[in-house]
Amino acid sequence: MNLERYVKEINKALDIYLTIKEPEGLYKAARHLIRAGGKRIRPVLFLIVCEALGKDYRKVLPAAVSIEAIHNFTLIHDDIMDRDELRRGVPTVHKVFGEATAILAGDTLFAEAFKFLTECEVDARNTLKAVEKLSEVCIKICEGQYFDMCFEEKSLVSEEEYIEMVKLKTGVLLAASASLPAILFGERKEVVDALWNFGIYCGIGFQIHDDTIDITSEETGKDRGSDILKGKKTLIVIRAFNQGVRLSTFGRQKASSEELMEDLRKLEECGAIEYAARKAKEFIEKGKESIKILPDTEAKDTLMKLADFFISRRR
Ligand code: IPE
Ligand code: IPE
Ligand code: MG
Ligand code: MG
Ligand code: MG
Repeated sequence: MNLERYVKEINKALDIYLTIKEPEGLYKAARHLIRAGGKRIRPVLFLIVCEALGKDYRKVLPAAVSIEAIHNFTLIHDDIMDRDELRRGVPTVHKVFGEATAILAGDTLFAEAFKFLTECEVDARNTLKAVEKLSEVCIKICEGQYFDMCFEEKSLVSEEEYIEMVKLKTGVLLAASASLPAILFGERKEVVDALWNFGIYCGIGFQIHDDTIDITSEETGKDRGSDILKGKKTLIVIRAFNQGVRLSTFGRQKASSEELMEDLRKLEECGAIEYAARKAKEFIEKGKESIKILPDTEAKDTLMKLADFFISRRR
């Protein structure tokens, strides 16, 4: 789908807000991933929702920057935690700048995000509510990331536990992206809640699909098969294990690519990948259902298409 118009607007704003200043080493590290690209789907979602609400997104552009800053903060720290070396087709921040600087780069983006959020041209009471919401969301992401790590060690993880974990690590930031426009513009609670639910359900679908393309796509700009080698309990793996499938490379960082391909084939054959695709689609449909109450506009239509894109993307 063509999101070019929104992506351009966001990239312009990112350039204005996320400059490189002294000390250069820190800011270069903090901007490394942002400048490497990325789909920008969270701030894009934010802008489209503004349009769906009939509001002028120029008044709240700093909040769109906040969301992308938070996202990139989580990615920098996530790559340290997941021991990943490639993202957006470039070496990860800790690989280029070292772990200590990468931690600080993430912290910098985290704090900058809240500063930008206070710069929206809306009623200060709404800004305060937005700050409260984004703080809660960041706490939930940490909880989700903690569960994700614990699950690497835990031998039995249920589908329900997996869904709760991805809702926290991924769903809530998409929910914030969708509902912050409504909060900032002072929309009524039903609208805020509908958009929040849209983000949560679509976010769960988005992460299930992310776990799938980790295995099936060459185009992610990340290390293929990383989740298997790290021993991540994705929905696909949980399903396969429940069916008695054994993966020789699971949690074995040093496995060869031939062995990895053999395991990927097993996951295809046992139907676990298809199962995850079906589940992802169910969550996306639930997400779309949640925003039925919004007036029918071109922007609402775009939101529906964006939701479908979350589970058709190859990167
Ligand atoms: C990656 O998010 C992290 C997940 C929640 C799966 P994206 O797939 O949106 O990553 P970028 O921003 O496009 O690189
Ligand atoms: C990402 O989950 C969630 C957050 C960054 C909060 P993953 O670990 O699956 O994301 P990728 O695949 O590294 O982008
Ligand atoms: Mg990761
Ligand atoms: Mg991770
Ligand atoms: Mg992933």
